[in-house]
Amino acid sequence: MTAAKLVVGNWKMNGSLVRVRAFADVVARDWPGCESVLCVPHPLLPAAQMAFGATPLRWGAQDCSAEDDGAFTGEVSARMIGELGARYVIIGHSERRLAHAETDGQIASKAQRALAAGLTPIVCVGENAEERDGEQTAMVLRRQLVQLVRALGRDLACVVIAYEPVWAIGTGAAAEPGLIERTHGFIADMLVFHAGPSASAVRILYGGSVNPRNAGVFLSCSRVAGLLVGGASLAPTDFMQICKAAAQCSDNAASVDGNTPIGQAS
Ligand code: 13P
Repeated sequence: MTAAKLVVGNWKMNGSLVRVRAFADVVARDWPGCESVLCVPHPLLPAAQMAFGATPLRWGAQDCSAEDDGAFTGEVSARMIGELGARYVIIGHSERRLAHAETDGQIASKAQRALAAGLTPIVCVGENAEERDGEQTAMVLRRQLVQLVRALGRDLACVVIAYEPVWAIGTGAAAEPGLIERTHGFIADMLVFHAGPSASAVRILYGGSVNPRNAGVFLSCSRVAGLLVGGASLAPTDFMQICKAAAQCSDNAASVDGNTPIGQAS
């Protein structure tokens, strides 16, 4: 039995109060019945709570502080996000790793704060084009995940991981299903190797140039637990189409050329 797929939208620094309300109208009219979340900019969280509260769509944030409270101007704590009814928070997106020099240690601390506040962290990992070309993907993923594993221990099972190769984000050049399947396999093996069998519960999403036309292919990969969608989550009809593909995704998810390992899990 294939577990229900999770679809997460990441609006990045887009959207407005008006767009949140318009999105909610479409959701109320045309709900496909899959587990889905929309991660909006912090100032839109109250509007998301108001608009989506009566719908099955969940909402979340795109970052949280590694601190609980105190003199951290401009930061937003996981607790504050939770008070606005959010259940999820994206952590360690490549745009934050790059533009805000977030370290793997900070990302692990943010995930701990999120869990303590009752949120599900969606921790993003992935190699850039140079690292891919240098066949360093396994090393990069190991480095990005090892501190998280150590910091969370058994709580790791409550985290969602999103594999988002940086070269696939916003480029229209999504990764090949075979590569996604192999890389998800590597991540899953690595988590179990370091954290024990309970880590097999960790859901691993794919993100990078997902759209309504290619979503079904990724969702049919047995190791893909769902999708993290950027640009295509801005248009409610596109997002709903992706959610429909997830809802329809049946028990016969295929393993797509997932046999060639990208590296050792250790
Ligand atoms: P795109 O779907 O626009 O490529 O963005 C992916 C992403 O970064 C989601 O977090």
